[in-house]
Amino acid sequence: MSIRNLDDLLAEGVSGRRVLVRADLNVPLDKQTGEITDDGRIRAVLPTLGALVQAGAKVVVCSHLGRPKGAPDPQFSLRPVAGRLGELLGAPVHFAADTVGDSARATVDALADGQVALLENLRFNAGETSKDDAERGAFADQLAAFGEAYVDDAFGAVHRKHASVYDVPARLPHVAGRLVLREVEVLSRLTGEPERPYVVVLGGSKVSDKLAVIEALLPKVDRLLIGGGMCFTFLKAQGHEVGTSLLEEEMVQTCRNLLERAPGKIMLPVDVVAADAFAPDAAHDTVPADGIPSHRLGLDIGPRTVAGFAAVLSQAKTIFWNGPMGVFEMAAFAAGTRGVAEAITKADAFSVVGGGDSAAAVRALGLDESSFGHISTGGGASLEYLEGKTLPGIAALEN
Ligand code: 3PG
Ligand code: MG
Repeated sequence: MSIRNLDDLLAEGVSGRRVLVRADLNVPLDKQTGEITDDGRIRAVLPTLGALVQAGAKVVVCSHLGRPKGAPDPQFSLRPVAGRLGELLGAPVHFAADTVGDSARATVDALADGQVALLENLRFNAGETSKDDAERGAFADQLAAFGEAYVDDAFGAVHRKHASVYDVPARLPHVAGRLVLREVEVLSRLTGEPERPYVVVLGGSKVSDKLAVIEALLPKVDRLLIGGGMCFTFLKAQGHEVGTSLLEEEMVQTCRNLLERAPGKIMLPVDVVAADAFAPDAAHDTVPADGIPSHRLGLDIGPRTVAGFAAVLSQAKTIFWNGPMGVFEMAAFAAGTRGVAEAITKADAFSVVGGGDSAAAVRALGLDESSFGHISTGGGASLEYLEGKTLPGIAALEN
């Protein structure tokens, strides 16, 4: 990649210089307690932050969390993230109670060499996500004032044309951080000439979210295995009744076309776990995919499907997995996701897990992260990369 990276910046010397780092600290929080349920994205940015601290930079970190609507909203505060980041870095992180206001200015001004500050949620400011170039630019001017150089380590947000991702690098000397560099290296192996068989496993709830990536990947992959909520729209396209399962009626014809375009390439569930209700204790049974009772909804793929998917995965040399196979957060509907994840770890293949949800599933199910080739921090970002789209955050670093 023809992009300058962190080593180039470190080689220039950053001691005593303010370095603005865009991170993706958009971690899942427990709805009741507000606690961080998966800190994978915080840990992923430690190599970059650690190197800058070590080199004596004054490190100013910014990120979004969730989707607040351009104004402060306490449930989306980054304060708990500052605490966790400090624990992981082994030094306190100075938290600014606003993003570019008085608190931010005072916090940044007070930083000593080798210290780290975290600004409050970027999306508490309308300028961050604005479609208006001037409004975004004005916010980017304020952010850029906090750094003498800019490091983008927010791989999960590189597909967003947002002020902190797209406009700030136009205003400051800019480099890619360690995480962005590694993500791009790994994902480019999948878009180039992947070793075959190349098998992609897709799950998650909506076909419409994944349509672009399915279209882009179908000609490239040897097999495409489909589970998760989106499989029911495909099953419907095959002529099966799906009871009260998740269904995107308007996508049925699209799914039919996809199935016809690549006969035999797309593999669908042959059995599903069908339940009375979307609840952890709902009555449920494994039923054939063409025999879902009219009053039930599918919440996981069944064991025969797992075995079939596992057989295909065991032959693969390259694997990309995005999206859970079922409602893995509920123990009764976690076996499909677990089974597929275990099959991926057993395969003698280069495996990439993409997507916030599948990465969180790997950790929530207690699977060994190191038995996967790479666990991407990007959900939408990794999918858009594989689609071959131009990512605004990457393009901005190239300029
Ligand atoms: C993600 O969770 O995929 C990234 O943090 C980007 O978040 P967004 O989809 O709200 O832009
Ligand atoms: Mg998202």
